[in-house]
Amino acid sequence: MHEFSFKDNELCCEDIRLKDIAKEIETPFYLYSYKTLIDHYRKLKTAFRSINPLICFSVKSNSNIAVLKALVKNGAGLDIVSGGELYRARIAGVDPKKVVYAGAGKKSREIEDAIRFGMLFFNVESEEELEEIQKIASLLKKKVNVAIRINPDVMPKTHDYIATGKGETKFGLDFETVHKIFNSKWRYPNVNLRGVHIHIGSQILSASPFENAIKKVLEFLKRYKISIDYFNIGGGLGIIYSIENPQTAKGFAKKILPLLKHSKLKIILEPGRFISGNSGILVTKVVYTKRTPRKKFIIVDIGMNDLIRPSLYEAYHKIVPVSVSEGSSYTSEKVDVVGPICESGDFLGKDRLLPALVKGDLLAVMGAGAYGFTMSSNYNSRPRPAEVMVINKRFYVVRKSETYRDLVRGESIPKVLR
Ligand code: LLP
Repeated sequence: MHEFSFKDNELCCEDIRLKDIAKEIETPFYLYSYKTLIDHYRKLKTAFRSINPLICFSVKSNSNIAVLKALVKNGAGLDIVSGGELYRARIAGVDPKKVVYAGAGKKSREIEDAIRFGMLFFNVESEEELEEIQKIASLLKKKVNVAIRINPDVMPKTHDYIATGKGETKFGLDFETVHKIFNSKWRYPNVNLRGVHIHIGSQILSASPFENAIKKVLEFLKRYKISIDYFNIGGGLGIIYSIENPQTAKGFAKKILPLLKHSKLKIILEPGRFISGNSGILVTKVVYTKRTPRKKFIIVDIGMNDLIRPSLYEAYHKIVPVSVSEGSSYTSEKVDVVGPICESGDFLGKDRLLPALVKGDLLAVMGAGAYGFTMSSNYNSRPRPAEVMVINKRFYVVRKSETYRDLVRGESIPKVLR
């Protein structure tokens, strides 16, 4: 469920008409619902209440500092993957003891900053990375917590680019290597090897690959008598973009809890999309309509630089008109909703049935709260859109739209070229 719905033919976020927001804020803009964000976080928290897990929101899905602050204020921790995300986490005022840091390529500087920050765990993805952490922790005279990321070699049903738990991906370590690491703890005196971590993929609709992975890890820990106190079971819960029928938080917990209940391990979850995905939309305006002998196109003021998911994963995002005028009906003619970027891959939706649209009409691209703004770019020198959040019947700009000046920030022309 989310807080974007039609009231009197007008799409509203919570109780505010998008039409009214668009009177004050130029399109395009991302729009987030605070209520939806927190509801989704609480759904998961409640479903897993009996084991009181730490829920670390995955910053990569939506890293706006207002989004992070909203979740942190409501008790969430954060899952980060870079020095930049650490910087954002700090601004959001998160308790360092609720931060976990994953990623296969942490650089020395990032490791050092994270150690100084004093976060809960590094999720470590290679032996070389572990050695680097040991080296830096020793120089800083600190002891740091580490969870080893295991690649459990399971096949989650999702797009290939976002399946991470298969053996052939770059993520985590195989059981044998993990065993070897736990057997050579003495090599890492400044490291507390206290946990294991998995993250098998993203937009996974059923609990069974999670169950398989968790079972594999628990059997492994038992078999080799590896004693740890934390198990991070990752993120990856799928959401509804169109006709998917994903597990609910409750349904997911029902399958997962029996596996974990007796393990005495402290459980960490690191969902991104489940919390942020349907908490945000992208609002755009029709710039032109155009008919060719083969197709009808609706050209809008967003493109693949603003939301890359359709182009990159052929992901489906529902596109709806913001105002449905009385008597307007959906035409039987299918249209492609495309952006202004000079690539054929620049589309938001293909073959969609929409009401007859004219220049200036507003459209909303749904389910854009996760991996929307965070994956946006300045391609074609397009300033990125604003981000706006509705909180308790008011809306706030939580990131201004970029300007042309922002586009060239940091660039310079060497004297020899002048
Ligand atoms: N933990 C780790 C270690 C991750 O790599 C990810 C996502 C998450 C947690 C959160 O996953 P989630 O709950 O959001 O599924 N750009 C793609 C998704 C890439 C996911 C990358 N890792 C998309 O737009 O679908």
